[in-house]
Amino acid sequence: TRTYTIDSIPGDGIGVDVTDVAMECVDAVAGLHGFSVSWRVRDWNSDLYVKTGRMMPVDGIEQLSSGDGIYLGAVGTPDVPDDVTLWGLLIPIRREFDQYINLRPMKLLPGVKGAMPGIEDLDIVVVRENVEGEYSQIGGRFGAGTDAEFAVQESVFTKAGVRRAARYAAEVAAGRGGTLVSATKSNGIIHTMPFWDEVVARTVAEFPGVTVDKVLIDALAARLVMKPTSVRTIVASNLFGDILSDLVAGVAGSIGIAPSANLNPERRYPSMFEPVHGSAPDIAGKGIANPVGALWAAAMMLYHLGEEAAARSLTSAFESTLAEGIATPDLGGSATTLEFAKEVRSRLR
Ligand code: NAD
Ligand code: IPM
Ligand code: MN
Repeated sequence: TRTYTIDSIPGDGIGVDVTDVAMECVDAVAGLHGFSVSWRVRDWNSDLYVKTGRMMPVDGIEQLSSGDGIYLGAVGTPDVPDDVTLWGLLIPIRREFDQYINLRPMKLLPGVKGAMPGIEDLDIVVVRENVEGEYSQIGGRFGAGTDAEFAVQESVFTKAGVRRAARYAAEVAAGRGGTLVSATKSNGIIHTMPFWDEVVARTVAEFPGVTVDKVLIDALAARLVMKPTSVRTIVASNLFGDILSDLVAGVAGSIGIAPSANLNPERRYPSMFEPVHGSAPDIAGKGIANPVGALWAAAMMLYHLGEEAAARSLTSAFESTLAEGIATPDLGGSATTLEFAKEVRSRLR
């Protein structure tokens, strides 16, 4: 039978709760579809950092490189500074494996009430540039302790980097009505954004049938709240895409339902699949985390592996669970993580 080797990094907080149940669902659906997943579960998290001073082993990236994919919960805890947990694990994985696309689909799921009425056909894909832009290592804090203390962060946008993100996004938009909304801030203040606009426009011009709708990020935020069904596909820089994906998920009901695929489209390196949300210290250990984001991300992983029928089965299983009104508290329900997952398992075909 077909076997895929997947490195699972549950991480911290609710990352552990949601990946635990999602891995069980993946095993169950794999069994029904004639393949199996060999999980290499990694204890790479904040506890490991406290014990060893590292979020992952020195050769962590090398260890991951032999797998077929990476499945992540979330990292982050109040006890360890976020820059340590993030630069020690999540960001290096995205960069070392050149996962330059962060694909974040969202739609109004059956049985789920969005943040406001009238958004029944919400269906948005955010294509987020995932390795450059505002998330750069250039900068820092200077003059600590003096009155002149300051902090600097440089954004770095390259023509090649913006081009490949725009190209991927144009392909996505081509299958979704042809309009690509480009999130920008090119009204004269941010130097990088007129460059972003130019490269996006030139790239998308190569795709017949796709047009760019360039929207300033502030106005786009308002439009996504007030008329979310007017937007289908978004291309955005690293930081803008990060913010917009939580915004869109919130409009669709909860950030607990949002999935993401960190893709190396050329498949030269493994891709990584994770829910969009973080470790949620406020509900960690309570057993009530919504596993839908993690399950949807797992479905995206199965699709990426070529197991499309299993991906569809897993997706319909969590959708039909929600459709029956079974949901965790973030969606207004009373199911625990385990209860929700059990319902999903019983619906796998
Ligand atoms: P968060 O996403 O963890 O939580 C924000 C809010 O949403 C909280 O009220 C939380 O309870 C709720 N929430 C999130 N996921 C949920 C789920 N599945 N079910 C129900 N409710 C859910 O964001 P935060 O609080 O800003 O960050 C907490 C920590 O997570 C920080 O250390 C941050 O750096 C980290 N983080 C990590 C990742 C990642 O590893 N990919 C992503 C985002 C944040
Ligand atoms: C996400 C997260 C990360 C990001 C953080 C934790 C660095 O918010 O995956 O959306 O900003 O990319
Ligand atoms: Mn985020």
